[in-house]
Amino acid sequence: MCGIVAYIGKKQAYPILIKGLHRLEYRGYDSAGICLYNHNRLNVYKKRGKVSDLEESVQGKDVSGSLGIAHTRWATHGEPNQINAHPHVSQYGDLVLIHNGIIENYQTIKKELIKQGRTFYSETDTEVLVQFIDYIRMSSNISLVDAVHQALSQVVGAYAIAIMSKEMPRSIIVARKGSPLVIGIGKDEFLAASDATPIVEYTKDVVYLEDEEIAVLSLPLRGKPKMEITNLKNVKKVPLIQKLEMSLSMLEKNGFPHFMLKEIYEQPRTLRDSLSGRINVDLNTVSLSGVIDHKDKFLNARRIIIVGCGTSWHAGLVGEYAIEEYARIPVEVEYASEFRYRDPLVYPDDVVIAISQSGETADTLAAVKLAKQKGAFIYGICNVVGSSIARATDSGTYTHAGPEIGVASTKAFTAQVCVLTLLALALGKLKGTIKPSRFESIVKAIHELPEKMEQVLTKNVQIADFAKIFTYSRNFLYLGRGYNYPLALEGALKLKEISYIHAEGYPAAEMKHGPIALIDAEMPIVVIATKKGNYEKIVSNIQEVKARQGRIISIVSEGDVEVKALSDFSVEIPETEEMLVPILACIPLQLLAYHIAVQRGCNVDQPRNLAKSVTVE
Ligand code: G6P
Repeated sequence: MCGIVAYIGKKQAYPILIKGLHRLEYRGYDSAGICLYNHNRLNVYKKRGKVSDLEESVQGKDVSGSLGIAHTRWATHGEPNQINAHPHVSQYGDLVLIHNGIIENYQTIKKELIKQGRTFYSETDTEVLVQFIDYIRMSSNISLVDAVHQALSQVVGAYAIAIMSKEMPRSIIVARKGSPLVIGIGKDEFLAASDATPIVEYTKDVVYLEDEEIAVLSLPLRGKPKMEITNLKNVKKVPLIQKLEMSLSMLEKNGFPHFMLKEIYEQPRTLRDSLSGRINVDLNTVSLSGVIDHKDKFLNARRIIIVGCGTSWHAGLVGEYAIEEYARIPVEVEYASEFRYRDPLVYPDDVVIAISQSGETADTLAAVKLAKQKGAFIYGICNVVGSSIARATDSGTYTHAGPEIGVASTKAFTAQVCVLTLLALALGKLKGTIKPSRFESIVKAIHELPEKMEQVLTKNVQIADFAKIFTYSRNFLYLGRGYNYPLALEGALKLKEISYIHAEGYPAAEMKHGPIALIDAEMPIVVIATKKGNYEKIVSNIQEVKARQGRIISIVSEGDVEVKALSDFSVEIPETEEMLVPILACIPLQLLAYHIAVQRGCNVDQPRNLAKSVTVE
């Protein structure tokens, strides 16, 4: 993971880089560092902890210069201390480098460099890379750019890097493979970053660097700023300049205490955005251009394989239920990390759907590449426009949830489920496997969802109130059946991610095969027990919990009597179609996790050990 940002222009780089690091902090927050070029000096500052710790530590120091690179780290190699923090500097101080990714063959290279007399101070793979480039440059007496080409041709692994040097004091070199890198083109300046959030304030013109491309960003003393892109084979590339759709207000908290709460509250709007132009309740239509353009692939699909990680995998499970029920196509949902390494059977007539908020998750990207090699048709459901997964797929649908900054995913989940629901309906209609009357009532129900989400959000105060009772619970169990089973998994994930309370999600009936042994008067059990689906069955499961003194928190349909009577706390949500319940019922679960975490004093937007964009496997 890690976030990198670089600036070269006429302004002071420091404030731009620090602001950029704050925006990228969701990618990792173990340590932060910066390098600024000023009067022939490469001033490097780094600090264990957050970007604000770095800011504090540089007070009174020379942070001037209009050229700089900065890094926020999620530790992979070596503990998160100051020595392992980026930037890393070459032995003689001529080169400074920041890196997001993992150099897999760094041990072999390191051994060789040690033999050649190089000394290492950190445990990182990044220090090996900067020393390697420097060693090639010095021993072969070639230019820095050539040395970068040669070094990157020999490393195995993933990288997005930015390099500053004394040899090219008016240039920054950036390169990528596997990890994302976006270049912003301003009037008299360039920015480069792991995503567009540090860039949007300065320019909307961006270039997404492709794998194995190297860009030299220069600001000559005279003349216009220059960008030269080549690939590892030294072939010149013509940059494709794209327009960012993001706006600055999307990246701010807008009066909310945390991004997570803001993003929970944004859901009615983001759902409207996800639906916009895709359903028409008057004409009774659902249209996804990514499906229509490749209708035959879907209609002739032997099966659909959904791959994803974390919350996206949970959304995939809801998608499985919906696609199988309405489009009658067999669906398998796989953890991308398992799929990519287990030599799965994938056929050319399979459709693989990759779900990813960031569009950068390394395992999901690798799963996409594997499925592509095996000839499957790849469909992406991504949130970040222009992201690596979105670009690696044959077709797809953006979720349009807008930037999600809280590490725990909320609005991205509802938008993913929404797109999958539309997909199931669109395919059901094309295949004729959904009754016209069902289609019509589901389309109507989808159209009503944003308003119903607003109603659910009015329960916030009630949830905040009873959340206090569970602040010191040590374990939680989440139960659901049918479409609500993936939701139980997602509710449990939200709680453990941000409050550090152990929580497990389970299919309610499976509780009897293990988790029931854990239930006692101390154990809160969250049950999603809405009216449609297996209501009677879940009532029996609740009875089983009650018989063992477990405390029930239930999410029920408006007007429910039976489950409410069995519950210690209940949250009512409006009735909707069964397949759409997860979109409404996830809101109380998100709010419950949020309030418990806040009560416990946890950093909900940046929970310990986690990062939002997992660009390492
Ligand atoms: C990380 C995040 C999760 C996210 C998962 C998959 O673990 O903390 O919130 O669900 O990655 O990310 P993706 O961007 O592929 O959806």
